[in-house]
Amino acid sequence: MAVDRRASGNGPSPPSAPDIRHMFEPRGVAVIGASDNPKKIGHSIVANIVEGGYKGGLYPVNPKGGEVLGRKMLASVEDAPGPVDVAVITVPADAVIGVLDGCARKGVRYLVIITSGFSETGNSKEERRLVERAREGGMRVLGPNIFGIYSRAASLNATFGPKGILPGAVAIVSQSGAIGSAMMGKTASERIGLSAMVSIGNKSDLDESDCLEYLMSSEHTRVIMLYMEGVKNGERFLRVLRQATARKPVVVIKSGRSKRGALAAASHTGSLAGADEVFDDVVAQAGAIRAENIQEALDWSKFLAEAAMPKGQSTLIVTNGGGIGVLAADACEKYGVGLFDDVQTIKAHFQSVVPPFGSLKNPVDLTGQATPDDYDKSLGAALSLDNVHGVVCLYCETGVFDPDRLSAIVKARYEQFRPVKPVVFSFFGGAVLEDRVAKLRHDGVPVYTDVYGAVSCLGAVYRHQASRAYAAGAVPFEPPHIDSASVHQAIDGALADGRTFLLAHESRAVMEAIGVRMPKARVARSLSEAVLAAKEVGFPVVMKVVSKDIVHKSDAGGVALDLDDEREVVDAYQAIMQGCRAYAPRAVIEGVEVMQMVRGGIETIVGARLDPSFGPTLMFGLGGIYVEVLKDVSFRSSPVDRREALRMVGEIRSYALLLGVRGEERKDIEGIVDAILRLDQMLRTCPQVTDVELNPLRVFDQGEGVIALDARIILAAPARGAAGAPDHPNPSSSQKTVHREGS
Ligand code: ACO
Repeated sequence: MAVDRRASGNGPSPPSAPDIRHMFEPRGVAVIGASDNPKKIGHSIVANIVEGGYKGGLYPVNPKGGEVLGRKMLASVEDAPGPVDVAVITVPADAVIGVLDGCARKGVRYLVIITSGFSETGNSKEERRLVERAREGGMRVLGPNIFGIYSRAASLNATFGPKGILPGAVAIVSQSGAIGSAMMGKTASERIGLSAMVSIGNKSDLDESDCLEYLMSSEHTRVIMLYMEGVKNGERFLRVLRQATARKPVVVIKSGRSKRGALAAASHTGSLAGADEVFDDVVAQAGAIRAENIQEALDWSKFLAEAAMPKGQSTLIVTNGGGIGVLAADACEKYGVGLFDDVQTIKAHFQSVVPPFGSLKNPVDLTGQATPDDYDKSLGAALSLDNVHGVVCLYCETGVFDPDRLSAIVKARYEQFRPVKPVVFSFFGGAVLEDRVAKLRHDGVPVYTDVYGAVSCLGAVYRHQASRAYAAGAVPFEPPHIDSASVHQAIDGALADGRTFLLAHESRAVMEAIGVRMPKARVARSLSEAVLAAKEVGFPVVMKVVSKDIVHKSDAGGVALDLDDEREVVDAYQAIMQGCRAYAPRAVIEGVEVMQMVRGGIETIVGARLDPSFGPTLMFGLGGIYVEVLKDVSFRSSPVDRREALRMVGEIRSYALLLGVRGEERKDIEGIVDAILRLDQMLRTCPQVTDVELNPLRVFDQGEGVIALDARIILAAPARGAAGAPDHPNPSSSQKTVHREGS
């Protein structure tokens, strides 16, 4: 697919773009469209700013005059006696543009535009005009179509969301206004402290990347949670996300997993929702943790903000019920939580609390007769064991137990655990126990009724820790050398011919130039040449029609396989010509490609393409039915190094087939990695290429390499007025890596 890579992003920033810090820590805030009517949004925002305890200058603006909450309305923002870094705009859509010039003259740096009625309703032109005018005035735009911004650093609650925000260490950036606003209430009721809450709405100018840039270095923020619907400038987003996750956990929740959901998201925000599978893999590559739903994201964020980072991945489960212990072990597998398996150590430390009919393995089963003191001793032992890096503590309600005593022990032990290693609790039972769970949660103890909920929080901590360790282990990587000049030569030839795809022999030349092996082949323009070619490449052979007018060769009867001798070649040649002429009578047929028939190996697929959301992106999967039916593929954002390409290959569900099952040899995984790296390098050094796919790429036993049976290369259509004109600047220097980012 042809993609204009300059289209990503929101246009250039103004040369003197203000520091994003001013939006989160403004010296003064004006509310333009402030109202004395308590039912209006312009009133609610003033009230929240006042109640939130903002210490900077607050300037309500309304030409009608009067007062709001005892503060005099100013006729214009320019009348504000002090500096105004942020103007919150709550006037109707048709009046927004009219207030911008005054803001610019006053030196406002950030416009927080609450007003709806722009691109989300199809009014994109007015939205663009608004951003242009703002930038001319040296201002940046948050929104429009948002509920505002809360920033703990300035004690500023410039939102019309629910009151009673709890200050804390979780920052939330939400594309959806309604969900973000509701999350403010939800965080307060779940005792999740916020360091920031930003509504980014239509993302006409500022987006989640801008917010991340501030939040990653904000001392108040320990965890960042992003609620997203679509990505506009994916390359920048991934770059900033990588920087952020190196410093603190980033939990991502993106709607639009399902096809219907993605469509709804696209029409809701006017932004392009990227294919969800790609999103999933590339945000994980950037080190973020993706949650399934809002509750999970909130639970993880709360836990990550409080928990100590574990020193390893060995978790101990302590339980009074075998069944729930097994469920917890299942949950550990699901969320990638490793289990402590040193049985001798468990025996030595837990023997005194486990009766003979209990279990001294992991899960440690204290049995139904366990007392609160047994829990106390077990938690103490787990805390003191250096090789136990995290703990899951489970309790199933029994009649022989004092829940208040248990609550007190859990609370005290949690305080001890908190600075040392992560611990989660799951209590399962009736109303009395649920009441204790609610109280403990209110006091900040990570207790859940659901085992999976508890374990998933621990999994989030481990995943963040593992991704940080992985990122820290990166070593400098030299991409493979490819002969870019020859690649450009083939591309230029196709473009000069008016094509945006390469013919088989051109693709073959490109593969040779980048170092990907293909079977021996010749193009034959007549029957006698075909016979000669078959003898040259050696029987058995494959024959395929060569015609720029026939793209789907098999459908046209243009492919013949397994031709063992001269007679079969003659018959196949005639059948191909007949079939193709019947299928496409006007097609110009240049001849046939006669190719060595390759047997054996496993079919895989390797692709590289310019993703509309994330730019250069790589794909790997098993070929044939695996890719079509099971969609067993993995994606990465380019560039990848050898380590990342290997991880990408290892991520598919059917990886075991490549490792060799039932006595089969391990396949040449290194060969696949090499092909991925070569395609990556080609995509990055040849800006005209939008798609390249090796399908199938046959993978032989280890040490025997890989071979691409087909290579499909698609080019971007040349800019209008330059048809056939290659647009790469200097083919001879083309080995240099091109950075394909939007602004
Ligand atoms: N300068 C200053 N004040 C002005 C100007 C101006 N140029 N023009 C009008 N005003 C005043 C008005 O006089 C009025 O004040 P008043 O109550 O004293 O008369 C005030 O600004 C507001 O103007 P209204 O015409 O009364 O508009 P209203 O308050 O009804 O609506 C609003 C304005 C809230 C911006 C509306 O147009 C809107 O967009 N609502 C949707 C907001 C939204 O949902 N955003 C997404 C949030 S996310 C979510 O879904 C939760």
